[in-house]
Amino acid sequence: MRVTINQIKEMKQKGEKITMLTAYDYSTAKIVDEAGIPLILVGDSLGMVVLGYESTIPVTMEEMLHHTKAVVRGAKQAMVIGDMPFMTYHISVDDALYNAAQFIQDGGAQAIKLEGGVTVAEKVSRIVECGIPVMGHIGLTPQSMYQLGGFKVRGKTLEAATKLLEDAQALEQAGAFAIVLETVPAQLAALITQRISIPTIGIGAGIGCDGQVQIINDILGSFTDFIPKHAKQYTRLTDIIRAAVTEYDNEVKSGSFPTDQQSFSMDESILAELKAKY
Ligand code: KIV
Repeated sequence: MRVTINQIKEMKQKGEKITMLTAYDYSTAKIVDEAGIPLILVGDSLGMVVLGYESTIPVTMEEMLHHTKAVVRGAKQAMVIGDMPFMTYHISVDDALYNAAQFIQDGGAQAIKLEGGVTVAEKVSRIVECGIPVMGHIGLTPQSMYQLGGFKVRGKTLEAATKLLEDAQALEQAGAFAIVLETVPAQLAALITQRISIPTIGIGAGIGCDGQVQIINDILGSFTDFIPKHAKQYTRLTDIIRAAVTEYDNEVKSGSFPTDQQSFSMDESILAELKAKY
């Protein structure tokens, strides 16, 4: 049985911390799922850490669905959340609903995530009304990076902090089951967490959130174009991969790979017959 939104909401009530990680492919999703992580986000960070785009803006529905399907095949227990890409929920409520449904019906996800607060509340409400669980995302919302002026901390002034609180309340009222708080002061994230009944999942938002999310490539040290302040590297896969690739290259060049162990053989008499003919 997969993790449900009610279980996630109950975790807040019981004071149990909620762990969420991104994944973009079958094998990684399988490992994350087997580790018992309850929430897997197929983030549009896909664009940067997997597809090599400079931002999340070029990511398309087609790309998101392709990777969501792979993650769903790998994760058997976790709730898989599909991240709605830029401009797939902005034009109209109908458009937002149609694209959200694509994640569930075609992608096989159990929930969707979208960025924004008060401005997307009507869309969240309609999507939830149609039976699709929605996770909100406020604070630093990378799809609005040009409007926000880059990847800066959000909510430091009274006005900005008030707006974030109101955004969180609007999402809660619209029926979101949880909200990602990205790059906001820890004190503000803790206050928002106290003021709403649904779980907050922080990334660069301090210890006072109900849960935490990280981009898997950041914690594994497999994406090193830049390392955000909010990321902690638990290992450095780039070093491990580089060492393995170099060793393989050296062995191929020196003739020590492959050995008999990685090779297949045929009957000597068939070989002799073949040699006699050609
Ligand atoms: O796209 C993503 O990975 C995200 C997380 C940073 C929450 O939105």
